[in-house]
Amino acid sequence: MTLHPGLAAVASLIGTWRGEGSGQYPTIDSFQYTEEVTFTDVGKPFLHYIQRTWSPAGAPMHTETGYLRVVGGTSMEFVLAQPTGQTELAEGPLIATVDGFTCTLESRLVNSASAKQVDATERRLDLAADVLTTHFAMAAVGLPMTHHLTSRLLRSTPAAEAQQG
Ligand code: HEM
Repeated sequence: MTLHPGLAAVASLIGTWRGEGSGQYPTIDSFQYTEEVTFTDVGKPFLHYIQRTWSPAGAPMHTETGYLRVVGGTSMEFVLAQPTGQTELAEGPLIATVDGFTCTLESRLVNSASAKQVDATERRLDLAADVLTTHFAMAAVGLPMTHHLTSRLLRSTPAAEAQQG
């Protein structure tokens, strides 16, 4: 399958990334997690995205899914569905670096009637060769924009896949 030319700027994201993260927020206990993220080319001018996380004991934690769109090679749109009742539309400029890119995305959210209120989020994705670093902050439950998550993920190679079983 030929990659849509509009996706050239994010082509190196395609595949699976795994690593560790940590989370905090003023209203909750801090926590650690393992994260797996997969970006898939489906032959269209966007990538499918799925993220899964697990506690140190292996219990499922947060998951989210959506689509990554690239506009004119210079900005990103991340359209996300949260199982906690939010939809998140994140947009930001895509800045090329020596061995990847950096992108800070500002989000608008829609909350379901039963969801905890999340008013806005900020995400940062830094890709440097085989390392993907993520940062996530949110204005939620009545607090201003405050850090919630950071993770450092490594590109999963066929050898690492075999080791995972
Ligand atoms: C790596 C992904 C994530 C992990 C591992 C994670 C984990 C957690 C944990 C353990 C808590 C505290 C217990 C709980 O309320 O369940 C929490 C609270 C919360 N998280 Fe996250 N979260 C993640 C992503 C997100 C995202 C993407 C959003 C928003 C779109 C979000 C919004 C919230 C909110 C609103 C709370 C409640 C805070 C409160 O009740 O005071 N989280 N998260």
